Amino acid sequence: MSSLYPATIDSETQLDQVLTDPSPELVATIRNLSSPLVMIGASGKMGPSLALMAKRAAEAAGHPLEIVAASRFSNQDTAAWFEAHGIRTQQVDMLTRSSVQRLPKSENVLYLVGMKFGTSADPSPTWVTNTLSPMLAAEHFAGARVVALSTGNVYPMTRLDYGGSRESDSLTPIGEYPNAAVARERLFEYFSRQFHSPLTNVRLNYAHDLRYGVLSDIAYKVYHDLPVDVSMGYFNAIWQGDANNYILRCFDLCTVPATAINLTSRKVYSHRKVAELFGLYFGKVPQILGLEQDTALLSNTDFLLEKLGPERLEGDLLIKWIANWMKIGGRLLGKPTHFEIRDGKF
Ligand SMILES: NC(=O)c1ccc[n+]([C@@H]2O[C@H](COP(=O)([O-])OP(=O)(O)OC[C@H]3O[C@@H](n4cnc5c(N)ncnc54)[C@H](OP(=O)(O)O)[C@@H]3O)[C@@H](O)[C@H]2O)c1
Repeated sequence: MSSLYPATIDSETQLDQVLTDPSPELVATIRNLSSPLVMIGASGKMGPSLALMAKRAAEAAGHPLEIVAASRFSNQDTAAWFEAHGIRTQQVDMLTRSSVQRLPKSENVLYLVGMKFGTSADPSPTWVTNTLSPMLAAEHFAGARVVALSTGNVYPMTRLDYGGSRESDSLTPIGEYPNAAVARERLFEYFSRQFHSPLTNVRLNYAHDLRYGVLSDIAYKVYHDLPVDVSMGYFNAIWQGDANNYILRCFDLCTVPATAINLTSRKVYSHRKVAELFGLYFGKVPQILGLEQDTALLSNTDFLLEKLGPERLEGDLLIKWIANWMKIGGRLLGKPTHFEIRDGKF
């Protein structure tokens, strides 16, 4: 419910506080996780807030839970952030078996490793990251419950009236990154059966934390008078606080053979309408280019709703937060989503 939330978010401290607020449902189920909860690929856009939410949920439940944030930590500041928040870190290179074997054994593994951008220029790192790393993780954590982050990019684009791709649809996307993401899922599935490791593949698109996301990309263009090409006419967008809550609750859905679940907003956003709405907030007329194409990358959320219930943040509050964030000069990660790409070349 939107009334749970402030009208605006005005600082990163406040943002992190709101972003890592565990839902009552998560607090109720966090007891199902035993120590240590190992998060692999934790130093990216989602890992820090996921780890802190898990910690806050465990504290609220009075459930002692050790969390290990494992990553390459290309940026040492992120490792320091975890340590400052009382979360243990471990450096790991998921492409090196001896490094993976040094990770602590665990019954619960949250897998966040991925590689997407730069694929067109050099596809092989994308393929090796999205195939070898899942294999080594599955081997090391044989028998553990694994929640593995996947993406809505595993689906082809569909017409708006199709109602979004469903979990049972064929995974036949265009492009090397989307197909490497399909391979990531298939490897986890295979080893889940092989090692009897209960698995949930989480097909996410697109998470938002104000510092990044599709809506922030559009807001940035409108605010800076840059053209907005609406050829990718529609998209789903989810508040990362909701995404994090759902992801941590996905341990309860892990099965052999694997469960796949779409994780995104029930709402389908119109690219053009969102640009116009940001224009109203900024007192600008957006420079709209192109025409909406017949198809877009959209996911159906019926299964998500059935299993985990509705999002907590609904309506246009996320758009209001982002408009305010842009106006006050809130920090942006400078990592555009490139959601508008239609040929699979990332
Ligand atoms: N954010 C979204 O909206 C979104 C949407 C769809 C799918 N997803 C999926 O969700 C997952 C998490 O998202 P995210 O946005 O947090 O991703 P991200 O920012 O790309 O973070 C992934 C992390 O994986 C780590 N990593 C890559 N290769 C590694 C290796 N060989 N060994 C150890 N660590 C390695 C990187 O580590 P270092 O920084 O330590 O080098 C990076 O920080 C990703 O797999 C992505 O495919 C996210």
